[in-house]
Amino acid sequence: MNSCQKNKVLIKGVSKSFENLLIVDDISIELREKEFVTILGPSGSGKSTLFNIISGLIKPDSGKVYIEGEDFTGKTGRVSYMYQKDLLLSWKKIIDNVSMPLIIKGERKEDAREKVKKYFEIFGLEGFEYKYPHQLSGGMKQRAALMRTYMFSKDIILLDEPFGGLDAITKSKMQSWLLDILDRLEASILFITHDIEEAIFLSDRIYILSDRPARIKEEIKIDISKPRNSDVITTNKFNNIKRHILDLL
Ligand SMILES: Nc1ncnc2c1ncn2[C@@H]1O[C@H](COP(=O)(O)OP(=O)(O)OP(=O)(O)O)[C@@H](O)[C@H]1O
Ligand SMILES: [Mg+2]
Repeated sequence: MNSCQKNKVLIKGVSKSFENLLIVDDISIELREKEFVTILGPSGSGKSTLFNIISGLIKPDSGKVYIEGEDFTGKTGRVSYMYQKDLLLSWKKIIDNVSMPLIIKGERKEDAREKVKKYFEIFGLEGFEYKYPHQLSGGMKQRAALMRTYMFSKDIILLDEPFGGLDAITKSKMQSWLLDILDRLEASILFITHDIEEAIFLSDRIYILSDRPARIKEEIKIDISKPRNSDVITTNKFNNIKRHILDLL
């Protein structure tokens, strides 16, 4: 077995320019099975571009994207990807919004509904199956968008600032909720944020990106045991990591 095969995702030396402006500069990243890995970097540094490359929407100028050892550079359809501004379709019920990935793959509406039903409890949306998006709170809408992302491909999930638009209280509740359900999701997750506390709280490892062009400044292993609850945010260990990251950025 070579080193690529041990990883769910392996990015090797990826670079990308737009209109002669270098945006992503020789980035290498790995995501192992069941890991939660965060890409933390300043606004405009190239984080979403990196996810577009990993998901195959954009072809890098150089470098490779391997998924479970297979070259997926420039190929879509393998990983779940929740965009930075992922919206639910307002005219569809929640159950049909989250069924969409299955319908796109060719399932019949009733079969898709049957398959997604059992996940409403995990995603905290039980009882809201037949509501429309406007009948849900902001946090619930984000959970529905996450659930839809999860239904696409359950093992590798890219989340681009999924809690970015939420108020501080809802955001903190969503982070705790996500940590709680991770075990049950059995997924490997790549997560983008520019929120340092969010990154430390959720992650097993963090890649710190520089300003544009995005380079990896440092890889940090978060040595705080899981399960974690929101109390860790006030511990010395947590604050030392936070101080270290602040110094880097
Ligand atoms: N398709 C494109 N064509 C030209 N330039 C682009 C394109 N996509 C992104 N860029 C540029 O690349 C840079 C990085 O954008 P990107 O969206 O990856 O940043 P980001 O780190 O996700 O920022 P934010 O935290 O604000 O979401 C920006 O300067 C942006 O203008
Ligand atoms: Mg972005």
